[in-house]
Amino acid sequence: MNSTDLHWDDSFLIGIEELDYEHKLLLRDINRFHEELKEQDEKSEIERCLGEIYSRMQSHFALEEYVMKENDYPFFDEHKQEHEKLLDSYTEYMMQYLNDSGSTAGVSIDDNRKRCIVDHILSSDKKMSQMVQESNR
Ligand SMILES: [Fe+2]
Ligand SMILES: [Fe+2]
Repeated sequence: MNSTDLHWDDSFLIGIEELDYEHKLLLRDINRFHEELKEQDEKSEIERCLGEIYSRMQSHFALEEYVMKENDYPFFDEHKQEHEKLLDSYTEYMMQYLNDSGSTAGVSIDDNRKRCIVDHILSSDKKMSQMVQESNR
């Protein structure tokens, strides 16, 4: 799967409005970053985009963890660990990019990381949302 396959698709919806909204924004920003990489040679602009994506991921995970806590979600710890792994992986990518900007290796690694984020939404976030919604019925 390449980066163009990762634009928002309604099959990514998990059914919790605020979280779906944030997932959309996150994918939008990551895709935008890919466009910047192609067009932008201003390193500071690329660094700014990387920072924005990191903040968005952090605040999104915090909101999701809040929703899980509020609903006594039984798989909270596993889910939080996945968030930490995604953040670590993204940080590693950021560092790699900053140390070796513009390399194609960096771009392809980012594609894998995008895939991991989408996989997390499709599996773990969907599972969590289903259980949370069922428990509130
Ligand atoms: Fe999420
Ligand atoms: Fe999540």
